[in-house]
This record gives sequence, structure tokens and C-alpha cells, in this order.
Amino acid sequence: MCLNITYRPMTAKKKDESPKAPVKKAAEKVEEEPKKKVKTPELLRGFRDILPEDQGRWNMVRDGIRNIAEAYTFDRIDMPILERTDLFHKTVGKATDIVEKEMYTFTDPSNRSVSLRPEATASAARAYINHGMLDRPQPVKLWYIGQMFRHDRPQAGRYRQFNQAGFESFGVHEPIVDAQLIVLGVQIFKDLGLDVKVDINSIGTPECRQAYLAELVAYFRQHRSKLSDEDKKRLQKNPLRLLDSKDDVTKELLDGAPQILDWLDEKSKEHFMKVLEFLEEVEIPFTLNPYLVRGLDYYSHTVFEFLLLDDKGEKSQNALGGGGRYDGLVELLGGREETPACGFALGIERIVRALSDRGIDPPQRPQPQVFFAQLGDAARRVGLNLYESFRQANIPVAEAFGKNALKAQLEAADKLNVQLTLILGQKEVLDGTIIIRDMESGAQEIVDVKKVVQIVEKKLRREEGVDPVTQSPVVEK
Ligand code: HAM
Repeated sequence: MCLNITYRPMTAKKKDESPKAPVKKAAEKVEEEPKKKVKTPELLRGFRDILPEDQGRWNMVRDGIRNIAEAYTFDRIDMPILERTDLFHKTVGKATDIVEKEMYTFTDPSNRSVSLRPEATASAARAYINHGMLDRPQPVKLWYIGQMFRHDRPQAGRYRQFNQAGFESFGVHEPIVDAQLIVLGVQIFKDLGLDVKVDINSIGTPECRQAYLAELVAYFRQHRSKLSDEDKKRLQKNPLRLLDSKDDVTKELLDGAPQILDWLDEKSKEHFMKVLEFLEEVEIPFTLNPYLVRGLDYYSHTVFEFLLLDDKGEKSQNALGGGGRYDGLVELLGGREETPACGFALGIERIVRALSDRGIDPPQRPQPQVFFAQLGDAARRVGLNLYESFRQANIPVAEAFGKNALKAQLEAADKLNVQLTLILGQKEVLDGTIIIRDMESGAQEIVDVKKVVQIVEKKLRREEGVDPVTQSPVVEK
């Protein structure tokens, strides 16, 4: 690119007219104390900044989720991050890991126990009741995206503050709802270029689960001495969680354990079979996983998780998302009896990481083709307005308002590889003109500043092969 600078400023640089600070005499010099090094506060463990360089991938995921939510006619809802603690005690369950060990709970200045939300299904059900959505045409389909908090042990893909996007459908029993939610989830991953597999199970109604649990507890009691301390606690407090224990001994014992699917009542079985049939119909690959129970108490019937497949087609450990039916939750929170509901949530950090591991990059932001270079404050003032005019014309413009020397600004323009640089000095400000410099040839032309947006627009179109008058592609003669 040609960089010889032909612009000559009209007047010599003004001398600095600001009053000079008095020069300290050597004798007045005071011994300065050595400056204490300020310690920069560190991030809390399990919390992270999402940096500008990562935002492209985050936007890709957020946009993908929003597109699908809109296509499947879900309505967006935003709920508070802070809720009364008892909302989660009642719904997620007092004996779950989330409530027992992971909640950020504190007493607020009104002496009320409050918690940072560890998940948002409970809040969605609360909002559904609070705002009389029971009386709207059902299903009421809500989606949300936002931060959740769990004081879990931080590790890869597990944070203490993380983001979830969730989909909740209230008011319809039909198994098609469960199936469509799974289809919708799979579609989000497909659109992002990720291969996932669905693990699915049914945990039936609370009644058939009760009978199953009695059997499960009786089985594990026989083997109690072999269990880890953690699993002994589960056996006592939340035996269903033994099914997804990570302990090898428990895993081995599970081979001989009673399976929940054998304890489902006829209605639960029928519901589950229909969900599976729908999935087969639309060719969603799934695995029946009799040990999938999920870590929240409110589920009934269908439960499922989205698991990432690696290059060898193996499922990864950390689920990218999960959900299920929760037919009892609305009633539990004081809503209408027997209000059915089903939903799932996706972990955005895990999805972003999967994209990055697979080298799936976001589309590049269009690079500015125009650079604005200015000389002096009068030109900067015009520049501020001009910048906005270009934005309104949808032409991205780069600038270096903080730089003074033209050479430095042209170098910056050169680095950005722009086609055109606009140069505005004091003379041009007085004349109402501006210089357009073609960075390739070095040719410069002086134009009326009021017409510059239009002229630049035409030049860029011509460059892109579009005839500026007819708007049709230019045909080489
Ligand atoms: P969950 O399985 O606890 O379900 O969380 C859903 C997803 O959030 C997980 O699959 C995972 O991707 C992500 N996630 C969970 N914990 C963390 C963490 N500590 N760090 C990073 N990502 C995490 C729920 O929360 C239910 N509310 C889902 C639901 C909606 N069920 C019905 N409707």
C-alpha cells in the first residue's frame, strides 16, 4: 500500500498555552515515601470473566438459542437472580446436593433468607402462578437465559456462576410436548454444528417411585457395608441418587439392582413409550439409560440429558443440558392442581467450550473499509458527527481519535487494510470539505463533507462489483 503523506496542515502546530506548572526547586524536594504496591483483587474461585475475544462464540450460542426459541414460539421471560430460599427448598428438594451444599444463601437486610438461584425452573413455575398464566391458553411456553449460582467444586465445565438457557412448557400432558422439547434441544446443537446424543429415562409418578424406592433401598441395605460414606448418606437421604453414583462399587452393584422402568404404572409406561415413538419418528438418536434420575426432586415421568459425542462417537461425562417433566411442581407451589409441565436447560459455558474444542468459530465481524483521520480538535468535532452519519448508513468506520499525528493515523489505517481513508484537517473544516484517500493507489480527492457518506458508499459498492446507479452487479466489458 502507498503511504506517502501528502496532507500539509494549514498552520504550524500551536504552542501549548496552558499555564506552566511551577518548577520545583531542588531544595524544596521532599523525600517521597516508596509507593506501596496495590494488590489487584482476584476473581472468586469458580467465577470468570467472559472476555471480548470470547464474545463472538457466546453470541453464536445465544443467537442460535434465540432463533430456535422464536421458531418454536416460546416467549422470553426474565426472572430475578435472587429469590426467597424456601422456593428452592420446596422444589429442588432439601435433600439434594444443590440445596444441601451448593446454594449461595444469606440473610438480606430485611432479615429474610434469600438465595442466588441455582436453577430457574422453580422461578418459572412461580412466575407462571404469580402472573395468572394458568388462565392463558395452554401450553404457556417460556424461555430464559441467564446466570445461575452453585457453590460446587470448580473443575473443567463446572463453575460457581454459570449461564443457562431454559425452555419450559406449562399446561399440557401430552407426550408430544416432551418429544418436541427434545427435538428443539437437538436442533439447537445441530445448528451450532455439535453432535449430541440424548440419554432418556422415565422415573414415573411419585407413587410408583415410592414403591420402587422401597425395593431399591432394601437391595442396597444388603450391600450397605460396601458403599462409600457418600453413598451411605444417599441411601438414607435420597436413595434415587444412588443410580447416578460415580463410585465404582455402587456402579457394579447397580447391575443387580431393581430398575425403575419395571416399576412404572401403566399410564407412565404408555406416556414414556409414546415419547420414544415420537423420537424414533423424527430420527433423534437416544439411549435408554435406566440410571438417569437427575439431581432435582421435582421431576416425574420423562427425564433426559443432552450429551456431547466426541470424535469416536463416545459420550462425554458432562451433560450439555438436561431436563424432564415436572407435573407436580406448579401444584407444589400453590398453583392449580395437576398442572403438567416439561422443560430443559442448557449449560452455555459447556456449549461454548465444545465449540472452541472443535474449532467452530463465529462469523467474523465485518472489517471496516473506511478509516477516519483527523488533525486537531475542530476536525475531531466534525468527526464525531460524521462517524454517526456513517453508522446510520451502515458503513463501519475505524478511527484513532486519540492519536494526533497524521502519520500514525495512516499507519493505523494501513494496518487495518482499509480501502479508503478520510482525512480532515483545519483547512478542510474551514472549507467544509474532506479528503478521500484511496489506500491502494494513494490517489486523493477533495469532496464536499456533506456528500462524503454518499460518495464513499458509491466507491465501496463499485469496489464490491455493484453498479452504484442500477444497484446490479457490474458486468466487465
Ligand atoms: P441441571 O441438569 O442441573 O438442570 O442443569 C442444566 C445444565 O446446566 C447442565 O446440563 C449443565 O450443562 C449446566 N450446568 C449445571 N451446573 C453447572 C455448573 N456448575 N457449571 C456449568 N454448567 C452447569 C436444571 O438446572 C433444570 N432446571 C433443567 C430443567 C429445566 N428441567 C426442567 N426444566
